[in-house]
Amino acid sequence: MRKLVIGSTGFIGRELVTLLSEKYPGQVRAMIRSRGKLGSLAYLWGVEFVEGDVLDRESLDSAMRDHVDTVYYFAAVTGNQKNKNNLYWRVNVEGTRNAVAAAEKAGVSRFVLCSGLGTIVGEPGSYMETRWEMEEAVRRSKMAWTILQPSILFGEGSEFFEAQARIMKLLPVAALLGGGNTRFQPIHVTDVARASIEAAESEAKIGKTIELGGSEYYTYRELVNLMLATIKIKRLKLPLPMWAARLNATLFNLLPKPPLTKATLELLAYDNISADREVIKHQFGFDPDLLQPYLAKYGIKV
Ligand SMILES: NC(=O)c1ccc[n+]([C@@H]2O[C@H](COP(=O)([O-])OP(=O)(O)OC[C@H]3O[C@@H](n4cnc5c(N)ncnc54)[C@H](OP(=O)(O)O)[C@@H]3O)[C@@H](O)[C@H]2O)c1
Repeated sequence: MRKLVIGSTGFIGRELVTLLSEKYPGQVRAMIRSRGKLGSLAYLWGVEFVEGDVLDRESLDSAMRDHVDTVYYFAAVTGNQKNKNNLYWRVNVEGTRNAVAAAEKAGVSRFVLCSGLGTIVGEPGSYMETRWEMEEAVRRSKMAWTILQPSILFGEGSEFFEAQARIMKLLPVAALLGGGNTRFQPIHVTDVARASIEAAESEAKIGKTIELGGSEYYTYRELVNLMLATIKIKRLKLPLPMWAARLNATLFNLLPKPPLTKATLELLAYDNISADREVIKHQFGFDPDLLQPYLAKYGIKV
């Protein structure tokens, strides 16, 4: 039986493929869009790479062939990207629907989706709506499914920490988006990958939507202070109300790679924490990594 990872070149997907390849050598299949994105994954032993795209049904059928029992769906367009040509809807919603249909057709029994904490129905046309519909596609499926909703992630390659630290380095002030009081529960990428595998293998997690977070809550202001201390710079902190942040995001949208998007602001508008601060320990039985010792040891790549 094989484990198929869709979104295997992503921040979480890479970690997941790595852990799966150690646990199931010779049984892991990773769907990739292009070999050029493989990087260090290319050196993993016992992983089969197949090319495919979630918008291409035939490539999904082909990725699911020969007895795939579990699909880990970790592909998405994240909120830091531009919504060019309706990309959010096409990849997040239509892509997930395609993958669910292909998995059902192939007789896959277990489907694990990585979504995000705080996903709600969302306004029509919003980024949040695409995340909600992505989850709904999985909840409606006939397979044994589990949806994971992580808070923000840390680890090498974390967009949240690295992109923001880069902006802080560039600008003379550090903006506290939305005032800085939104709360987060940062979790290490390896802990998310580990919890994902455990979720896929637990009967008790079937049909559940599970929030994932580290064991600490931080306000956005506290995270900004930590990032500044980690990259050893001082900046004046400027609370930026949401309306002003949205105006900035609208202007930045003219750039090919905007440093701030409206979708990111949608995600920053609500507390991004799980109801149970010890969710990893209680649901998965291990202690997640702590943010501050990690940052002190590894820093933030800027
Ligand atoms: N990172 C976080 O802090 C965080 C926090 C909470 C929730 N999440 C959620 O976790 C999930 C994974 O996040 P991530 O950070 O790993 O994202 P990521 O690094 O942006 O990776 C996204 C993955 O999706 C793939 N992908 C995009 N479009 C595709 C398509 N048309 N066909 C096939 N694959 C496609 C990408 O492939 P390419 O490499 O070819 O582009 C990449 O492998 C997302 O749902 C995200 O919202 C992430």
